Amino acid sequence: MHHFNRIGGVLVAENVNLEALADAVGTPFYIYSDATLRRHVRVFKEAFEGADALVAYSVKANSNLAVLEVMREEGAGADVVSGGELKRAIKAGMSPDTIVFSGVGKTRAEMAEALDAGIFQFNVESEAELDALNEVALSKSARAAIAFRINPDVAAGGHEKISTGKAEDKFGVNWEAAHALYAKAAALKGVDPVGVDFHIGSQISDLAPFESALVRVSEIIAALRADGRIISRLDVGGGLGVPYGDRPAPPEPKAYAELVRRMTAPLGVKLIFEPGRMIAANAGILVSRVLYVKEGAAKKFLILDAGMNDLIRPALYDAFHAIEPIRERDGAAQTYDIVGPVCETSDRFAKARALPPVKAGDLVAIMTAGAYGASLASEYNTRPLAAEVMARGNQYAVIRRRPSFEEMVARESGGGWTTIQG
Ligand code: LLP
Repeated sequence: MHHFNRIGGVLVAENVNLEALADAVGTPFYIYSDATLRRHVRVFKEAFEGADALVAYSVKANSNLAVLEVMREEGAGADVVSGGELKRAIKAGMSPDTIVFSGVGKTRAEMAEALDAGIFQFNVESEAELDALNEVALSKSARAAIAFRINPDVAAGGHEKISTGKAEDKFGVNWEAAHALYAKAAALKGVDPVGVDFHIGSQISDLAPFESALVRVSEIIAALRADGRIISRLDVGGGLGVPYGDRPAPPEPKAYAELVRRMTAPLGVKLIFEPGRMIAANAGILVSRVLYVKEGAAKKFLILDAGMNDLIRPALYDAFHAIEPIRERDGAAQTYDIVGPVCETSDRFAKARALPPVKAGDLVAIMTAGAYGASLASEYNTRPLAAEVMARGNQYAVIRRRPSFEEMVARESGGGWTTIQG
């Protein structure tokens, strides 16, 4: 459910009229609904009511500080994958003991920063990383609570490029190696192996892969306990999909929660969740103006002022996003390729999409763009990052303004040569 509806034929974000907002802030811009973000966290938390559970919002999905502040207010923590994301979570006021640190390539500097902050858990993805973390922790006389990210060898995810839990993927440690790794970790003084972690992919549209992964990690936890290890936490990652337009709807959070609760109840562990997309995706849309309607030799193009640099999902994963005119238009539907201004053929939001007749100057909304939209944006073609706006009732706040050209080039310079002897 989301809070983008029509009033008098015009799309609104909560009660903010998007035509008026486009005039106020310029296009393209992302607009998020505060109420939708909060609702999604609440639905998730309610589904796990009574269980010992930490919801660590996956910051990469949408890392805007204002979004993180909403997460904190709703009682969520953070799943971070870099020193930058860690700083964001802390700046947003999140308590370090609600922060988990994931990712295959944490640097020693990032480990040190997270140890100093006192985060809840490191999700360790290799033996080499274990050694590095142990050394960094020992150098600070600290002890890092860790979970190994187990690669359960389960196929899952909406696209090959967002599947992470197969043996050939770079993520996690081979489940067969877990026994030896936990034994090694237990003997190290800088780490405390308290948990097991997995994350098998993203935009997962059925429960079967979660079930397979849970079966495997349950076996691993039982085997580790038989070895005398004390395993008190299970991090089940994120990955639950969302409905994109008319695509098949993934399971509801409630059904997911029932499965996880049923499968994990016998384990008696604290649960950690890292949802990203299901919190943020439907809470945001990208609003763009039609620059031109171009009658090509073979097809009709709508050329928008938003491009693949603003929302790369269609170009990168052939992702489907519903696209709607902000003001309802009458007339027989036309078929358009909906593209951006960037100099790449893949700068295309939709191919052969039926829309009511649209004119230059009209506004369109690219739906379900709150997750992996702004956070994956770039300034390719020296296009300024789209503004980000939050709607709350009939109010809006610009939560990231569009940079000026001077800001975009401020870190570049033509001089300052330094010699290094070869
Ligand atoms: N935890 C870990 C360790 C992850 O790698 C991810 C996402 C999540 C949690 C959150 O997963 P979610 O609940 O959002 O599915 N850019 C792609 C998605 C990449 C997901 C990367 N990892 C897209 O736009 O579809």
